[in-house]
Formats: sequence, structure tokens, C-alpha cells
Amino acid sequence: MKRSTAEIRQIFLDFFCSKGHQILDSSSLIPQNDKTLLFTNAGMNQFKELFIKKNKYYTKVATAQRCIRAGGKHNDLENVGYTTRHHTFFEMLGNFSFGDYFKKEAIGYAWELLTNKKWFNIPPDRLWITVYETDYESYNIWLNEIGICPERLIRIGDNGGSLYNSDNFWQMGNTGPCGPCSEIFYDHGKHLSGNPPGGTEINGNRYVEIWNIVFIQFDRQIDGSMVKLPICSVDTGMGLERIAAVLQNVHSNYDIDLFTSLMQYIANIMKISDLNQNSLRVIADHIRSCSFLIADGVVPANEGRGYVLRRIIRRAIRHGNKLGIKEPFFWKLVKPLIEVMDIAGKILQIKKTHIENILKIEEEIFNITLNKGLILLDKKLKKIEGNVVNGKIIFLLYDTFGLPIELIKEICHEKGLEIDDVEFKSELQKQRHRSRTLSNFPQKINNANIYLIPPSIFKGYDKYIIRSVVKAIFVNTKQVEQIENNTEAIVILEETPFYSESGGQIGDTGILKGINTKFIVTDTQKYGQVIGHIGKLICGNLCVGNIIEASIDQTRRNRISANHSATHLLHAALRQVLGKHVSQKGSLVSDKYLRFDFFHAKAVELNLIHEIENIVNDQIRNNLAIKTDLMTINEAKKIGAIAIFIDKYEKYVRVLQIGDFSTELCGGTHVNYTGNIGLFQIIAESSVAAGIRRIEAVTGEQALCQIRLTNKDLYEICQLIKVDKSKLKNKIQSLVNYVALLERKVKNIENQQIMQETKLLLSKAISFKHIKLIVNLFKNIELNILRRILMNLKNQIQSGVIVLAVILDKKTHLLVAVSKNLTDNINACELVKMLAHQINGTGGGCSTIAEAKSDVIHALPEVLATIEGWVKSRL
Ligand code: ALA
Repeated sequence: MKRSTAEIRQIFLDFFCSKGHQILDSSSLIPQNDKTLLFTNAGMNQFKELFIKKNKYYTKVATAQRCIRAGGKHNDLENVGYTTRHHTFFEMLGNFSFGDYFKKEAIGYAWELLTNKKWFNIPPDRLWITVYETDYESYNIWLNEIGICPERLIRIGDNGGSLYNSDNFWQMGNTGPCGPCSEIFYDHGKHLSGNPPGGTEINGNRYVEIWNIVFIQFDRQIDGSMVKLPICSVDTGMGLERIAAVLQNVHSNYDIDLFTSLMQYIANIMKISDLNQNSLRVIADHIRSCSFLIADGVVPANEGRGYVLRRIIRRAIRHGNKLGIKEPFFWKLVKPLIEVMDIAGKILQIKKTHIENILKIEEEIFNITLNKGLILLDKKLKKIEGNVVNGKIIFLLYDTFGLPIELIKEICHEKGLEIDDVEFKSELQKQRHRSRTLSNFPQKINNANIYLIPPSIFKGYDKYIIRSVVKAIFVNTKQVEQIENNTEAIVILEETPFYSESGGQIGDTGILKGINTKFIVTDTQKYGQVIGHIGKLICGNLCVGNIIEASIDQTRRNRISANHSATHLLHAALRQVLGKHVSQKGSLVSDKYLRFDFFHAKAVELNLIHEIENIVNDQIRNNLAIKTDLMTINEAKKIGAIAIFIDKYEKYVRVLQIGDFSTELCGGTHVNYTGNIGLFQIIAESSVAAGIRRIEAVTGEQALCQIRLTNKDLYEICQLIKVDKSKLKNKIQSLVNYVALLERKVKNIENQQIMQETKLLLSKAISFKHIKLIVNLFKNIELNILRRILMNLKNQIQSGVIVLAVILDKKTHLLVAVSKNLTDNINACELVKMLAHQINGTGGGCSTIAEAKSDVIHALPEVLATIEGWVKSRL
């Protein structure tokens, strides 16, 4: 019986559930506790801290974790769709032990699941095993307890003799949990080429690694040293798509049920009959990564995660184009994807409209830029001398117009041109450098010692002022014992009422006071678990061990708390008015205002803004109680808590409930009753990126100030135009009408003046040798009117030279026009320069129109008198 991919996922989880493992949901693709990681790329990422720290909430768990490997050392995007096993997105099935079971059980479980008739029932002689060369314990377990024959049990050592640099020593990255591993390979059969694991030759598709069992024993430090962990743990990973290929008796991941149905759906939507096409595989792969990335909060952008997403979307669209599709199509694939993903697609179902909207917008943008870019590329290529295209041009097309580099290369190639890759790469490097957003860590302490200080205890949910002990002091990057007056420093306390910036809420400010000591805190930031009070000592000395009184600026904190509670009300109101797809993308809560970014495809209309404001203000007047509780994730889910990130695996989460109106996970500070917020007013609604809107709002005193300010402006406007407030709108309307009328009148007068002057000057024109010469010095005329007279004259005389001059604001202006037929002999630019030269002026223009300016205002008539002779001499 052939099992579906969905069944295989479930069997894996059921198996480990039967072995006492807790089954957890997949975490987000955006690693929450690891800034060094772009995307979640293994099942163990979310548990990194559990391997290292002693305090465990979980001992045995299993997950089906969504992962992305797109670019970087793991996966070359260009391969995806062209090989049997490369994906940008995949699911990793994993079981984990945190200090519970170790090698014997981990190996036993894997073997039982794979080979037992009740479970996957794979013939044992199809499986090959590798172990780390010096891991005798694992070797013996496989040999003696499992009974693997020695020919299929292979020891793999270090590459080039450098310690732990081995296929069988797994490391999460340059730092972090790691250890020797044992891998299980499946032999797909003689009909395929390839060598057993451990060989030196490049392998084909016959032997495929299906499961990696890592015995986590060390924590790799930044200097490369290995710190032995106090407990031994297990981290395993089995690619769902690979094991499905094995169990469904196919050798390409793209031939498993999940992909064949998805590709069939895609082919139907796109009206394609041939399913065996790489482009179709590319699209099927990419719709998975793109949909999940968007569901997890990434939006297309020109840097970071958003950039990777944009690249994948654009690659998919290009492959769609290759298949002959002209219309936006990619967004239509979200629906069939949800179907094939089964329970793993739950998050896609919730965010469906949002994902579709983002994809649709991105496709439209790309189609427009693609067309513009292709036209520009064509133009640029026509101008190329030689056969190498300048890297700067390529970069412009790539960066500004979003043309994929391979597409540019392809087009250049068709025309027999090469691109200057070195120059292109150097431009790319420069841009990356420019756009690398500065990290948001103010006063970053590059001192590992800060992470060794015991965690600070935050007392500020209900206390504004407490006595505490100074635990550590840092000046710049140095840890010191004592600071003198006037020193800027970061002070760490044992307990503190200061809230450190997090979850969008800014850090507290205040004072640390001792006898004759005053340290002004201007910001509070978190370093791991340690709260740092950033500021300056303005009186006395401060030493480690001192007892001080720590007090925060209460008024400021109250305003921040009011804004934070209002943010939760706003979020709930947005979901009520705009729909459940609204979810938080980011926020800023300060004492001055609040800012809330959320997913929504289009601008929020004014009537809806008012509706949202009304709902929030109603809840403020209802004076709902705001309460917080610590509970487990499951309890929080049960009461419907909205979480931005549900993968903070801590024992308890803090749930904030505002009456029955809003329930969210939140670590911030809040007011006790919504009535404390006072008043809520939205001051701006704007777009942050495609599919993301931003609302800015104020509360309490700030909202009042805002209203007062508007009123004050109104009052002053009324005073200014001398009208009562009730009649202001009508008055402004009539003023606008009046101004329009005046503008029309002025225009008429100007036109008349221009016509009259033109006529007069034409009548005064001197004629010789079939040309007309008009020279005139005006007394008082606006420059733009003078220019229009010049153009009028130029249009009316067939052949001639016109020089008009005026003195305005103590400056001489000269305007020259020459009819086109004369420019071989008389050049307007040359003439204006000749005139300007005589009065120390400067000028320029083209052969038919030129202008000059000078500070010399006398002698103009004499200068103008030289024109006739000059012109005649040229004819
Ligand atoms: N963390 C291990 C891997 O990703 C299981 O291969």
C-alpha cells in the first residue's frame, strides 16, 4: 500500500508520540531566537537554547518543521527544479531529546520506525549507515544491537585531517550546538548510478541520505573551541520529501504524490499538457517557499529575507513565461498548494488572501519593470562598442528594473555579447554595503562577559521604584568595577523597574540614585537576558556592589503603557473592520505616539479609519479591565490568544486580555483599565511596502494636544480671513474660486501684453539682406513674459535675429533668438556671449536660443548698438 506524504508525516509524529515525545507545531521560517540565521533551515533551530541551557521545559519532542534553504552554502537556487532533490522549501521530520535519551535509543527508534512492518517497513538490506570515525559507541550499537552487517556500516573521518570537519560531524553554524552524527542512506537500486557513502567519487542518485541523527555534545564557540555541554542531547532530521520518495517507490522527490498533484493542478490552471518540464518543477517548488515565507511575515523587498523571497518569486514568474504564460498566474497556485500540504498548510489557509494579494502585486510590479527593463536593455545593447557590456549598465538593469541577472546574460549571449562580471559584482557589493541596514542595537557591547552575568530580574510591571544592587558596569566595550562622575556607561542591576526595549515598546528612562550618586538613564536595552541601563553618571562615583534606588520616569512610562494598550485595541479593531487577515508586521510604542504595521492589500479609506477610531474609543469609554496571566502555550491558544510568533518555546507565555475584546501574547507594560488611555486618534495611514500598511496614532494628552493644535490652526485661519468658523468652508471655497478667476484675468492681460509687444517690435524691425533684426531694451517686464515675446517673435519671422534686454533687480538680462536658417553664420550662443563679454556677464544656450546675465547695468544701450554691425559682418 502506497502512503501519501501527509500520511507519512503523521506516521512519523504518531511513532514518536507513542515513544513519549511531545508533538510540537512547526515554528516560523523566521528564526525568533537567532539573529545569525536568515531562515529556519533545520528542525533543531527553534530548540537551540534547550541544548545549551540546563533548565528544560521539554525533554523529548518531535516536529515536522518547515525549512528554507535558498542560496548560501546549503543550496544553489539555480539548481532547484533541475535535480531530483533540491528544494527551496522542505519539511524536516525530527525527534529531539534534551538530556533525556541518547545514542542507543535514538538509533533504536530510527531503526524501528524505518524497518518495522507496523511502521515504514523498509527492507533492512536497502539501508546503509555511516558513523563518525571515532564514535565507537554508535558503531557498536549499529553492529551489535541493531545487527547491521559491517559492509553496510561505514566509518567517516575528518576531511583533510582537520578535527570535526567531517560529513559525520554536524554543526549548526560557526557557533552553537554540534556533535558527531550517524546518517542513514537508502539504496534506490541498481538501475541508478552512484556509489555507497564514504567514497571519494561524486555520487549519482542511487544512495540517498534519508536521516541524520546528531548526538549533540558540544557548544562550538566563536574561536572554534568546543565546550562540552553538561547534558547529552539528540537532534535528528529526515527530509519528508525524501522519505516519501522512498516509501512511494520513486527516486525523484518531484515524483511523490504531493508534487505530482501540485504539478497537475498547476498544469490545469496554466493549461499545459506536458507535465515533464523543469519549469513546472521550479514553479511547484517555488510556490511552496514563497507562500510559506509570506505566511510567516516576509514581504518582497530589495534586501535581506525580502530579497530572497523576491528572487524566488521572480524566478517562478520567469519560468511561467517560459511555459508561455503572459498573465499573472503565480498567486492562483496558493489554493491548490493548501490542499496538497494537508495539515502543514494550516497557516496558509489562515493567511490565504494575504499571500495571494502579495503575490499578485509582486507579479504586476515585476511585469511592468520587466518590460521597461527589456526595452532599456535593448537600447543599451545597441550602443555597445566591442562585445563586452559594462557591468554598471547590467547592475542598473538588475537593481532598478529587477531584471534577473541570468535573463540579462541570456539576452546578451544571444547577441554575442559578454557581460563584465567583475564590474557587475563590484557594483553589487557596493549596493549591499549601502543597503545593509544598521543594526538596531544602540550602544552595542561587544563583550561576551555581559552574557555571563546572571539574568536581570524585571520588577517594572507593577513597580516604578525599587532598591537594587549594581551587578556590573560597562564603559564602551570594557567591563569596569567603578565609574567616575561624567562617565557614559551601561549599568546592570540585580533587579530593576526599567523596561528594556522589546516587542516594539521603547526602553524606560529614569534615575539610579545612591548617597551622593546620580546616574541618569536615557535608554534601557536588553543583552540576552541582561537588562542594561544606558546613561551617564552626573554626580559622585558608582561601584559594582553599590546599593542604589532605581526609579523610572513615571509620566513617560504611563504614556508608553497607554499607547501599548491602545495598540492592542487598534489591532483588534482592525481585524473587526478590515478582516481576520490583518496581522501585525511590526510596531513601535513610544511615549509620543504609536505605530502599527500590518498586512493589508490596499489603503484604508477615511470612513473606515473613523470606524476604527470609534471602536477603539468605545472600548476606552467602556473602561475594560486589562489583565495579564502567565499560562502555557496550549492554554493561551485555547482562549484564542493572537500571537505574532508562536514559537517562543518557554514554559509560560504572558497573555494580555482586554475585557473580552482582545487577547494577545505580550511582554510589554500596560495601563490597568482602558479608560486610562483617555482618547485615541489616528494621525496617519500610509503604505510601508507592497501589502503592508502603517497606522500612526496618539492617545491621551497627545491626542488632546493634536485636537487643540488643529483647533488653534482653525482659529488662526478664521482670524486671517476674517470669517466665523461656521462659514469657513464656504469662505475658502469662494476664495479658491476668486483666485482662479484672477488667474484667468492675469493670463488674459499677459497674453494681450505679449501680443501688443510682439506687434510693436515686428513693426520696428530693421530689415537687410532678407533678414530681420529686432533689438529692444525693455524698462520693466517679467522675465517669463519676455521669454514668451522672444518665442513669439522667433515664430513669426522667417529669417532673423532677435535680442531682447531688460534690467531687473539690478541685473541685466539678455535673451537672444536666431532663426534656424541663419545658424551657420550667426549662432545665438556666440552672440549672447559676445554681448555678455562686454558687460562682464556670463551666458549660454544653443545655436537658436541663448540667455545671459550680468551685474553691470549701465552701458547696455552701447552694447546693444554693436549688434547690427556684428550681424552684418557675419552675413
Ligand atoms: N540538524 C540535523 C540536520 O539538519 C539533523 O541534518
